[in-house]
Amino acid sequence: MMAPSGPLHALTPEPSKCLKAIHSLCDPVLNANTIANPKSRKKYKYLNFANALIRGRIAHNTPFVRVIPTDLCNLKCSYCFQRSDDPFQMSKEQFSAYLKKAKEHHIGMMTFLGGEPMIWPHLDYAIAEATRANVITDITTNGTRLNAESVDRLGRAGLDFLNISVDGLTTTEVSSKTSVVVKKELLDHLKKAKEKYGMQFRVNSVIHKNNFEEIKQLIEFSKEHEVPISLGYVVPHSHGDHIADPAMYFTKDDTAQLNEIISHIIAKKRAGYPIIDPEEYFTGMHKFLKRENFWSCNYPTRYGWVNITPRGEIRSCTKKMDVMPGFTFLGLTQTKIKALKETLEPMVKTCNKNCYSNCAFDSYFYRTHKVEAMKKLLGIR
Ligand SMILES: C[S@@+](CC[C@H](N)C(=O)[O-])C[C@H]1O[C@@H](n2cnc3c(N)ncnc32)[C@H](O)[C@@H]1O
Ligand code: SF4
Ligand code: SF4
Repeated sequence: MMAPSGPLHALTPEPSKCLKAIHSLCDPVLNANTIANPKSRKKYKYLNFANALIRGRIAHNTPFVRVIPTDLCNLKCSYCFQRSDDPFQMSKEQFSAYLKKAKEHHIGMMTFLGGEPMIWPHLDYAIAEATRANVITDITTNGTRLNAESVDRLGRAGLDFLNISVDGLTTTEVSSKTSVVVKKELLDHLKKAKEKYGMQFRVNSVIHKNNFEEIKQLIEFSKEHEVPISLGYVVPHSHGDHIADPAMYFTKDDTAQLNEIISHIIAKKRAGYPIIDPEEYFTGMHKFLKRENFWSCNYPTRYGWVNITPRGEIRSCTKKMDVMPGFTFLGLTQTKIKALKETLEPMVKTCNKNCYSNCAFDSYFYRTHKVEAMKKLLGIR
């Protein structure tokens, strides 16, 4: 048979495209995990987010929910405060019940953490379901499972923010998170997904006493490729089976080394490098090490971030591995959410002394420094 030509050819779809279309109609998994045009959803997500923030201010709701679908991880970073060998993973049905409950309490944003969220088999489905509910989604991953295919799947599911943890260009005993800086082709896939699906991405790195040279290279990488980078000091944790070498943590005797690191980061930031955290986070480390009371974490108390464990319990903070007695996510009512915030308030005052989380500090800082927040929004700082 002759191949169609002329006007008829223009109307005849390519066989490969037909097959893809038929495949997607017949494949329920592909459909369940794929949103037709994720970019077009953004405006509804931001409207829903604004509504969630307002409702979170006037009543006890859950505008921000963090899902910890598994505590397992395929890596063993020695400093990690958030991993266990408990093999229990959240089921798809459990997740759907939590999303339904979160919608009743006017959720605006859902983040996925771990352990490693990308080893959870229902991640794409969960992101797609949240997208269908007009909920902004965000994941933090160690990057080991990122490749052309998985990046495209996350984009198709409607993921809004992808945070890739990278600690250096080489694998060490402390951390083997090198993904995007070593596998350069990943950057192209990420840029494509940003363009096609509106999936933003950034790099998160930890600073400890022995990785300043790597941090310098990561900062250059961020500038060269225009990838925003968030830098957080490693802080000791007091649980788990993988206690890190105490020599990696800064102490108040490390003033000279810290000053060198801080000056370098601030100089780069002032030169326009895309470093996310405010200067005050870096300089504040001296105060933290002297145990000064200079910042107050507002995670659980301001709007009420709620962290769901793989079993549907509530964890007081993602930096801990605890469970809040008397609370479950499905058991939350407005009264229970109020009681949860009241229970968390004194707990945070205690853990705040030992914690210097950059994301918690940044949230506190921009809430209490409105001019700086405005400058950041306008791209001046
Ligand atoms: C616990 S991990 C979970 C998600 C994923 N496995 C990852 O590594 O991105 C979330 C973030 O916490 C950071 N983190 C873990 N332990 C830390 C510590 N003791 N101090 C500071 N940051 C830490 C990791 O580097 C990562 O960026
Ligand atoms: S920091 Fe992330 S990648 Fe490293 S062990 Fe912890 S959970 Fe795993
Ligand atoms: S101070 Fe740190 S450990 Fe305590 S609630 Fe805030 S982020 Fe979590």
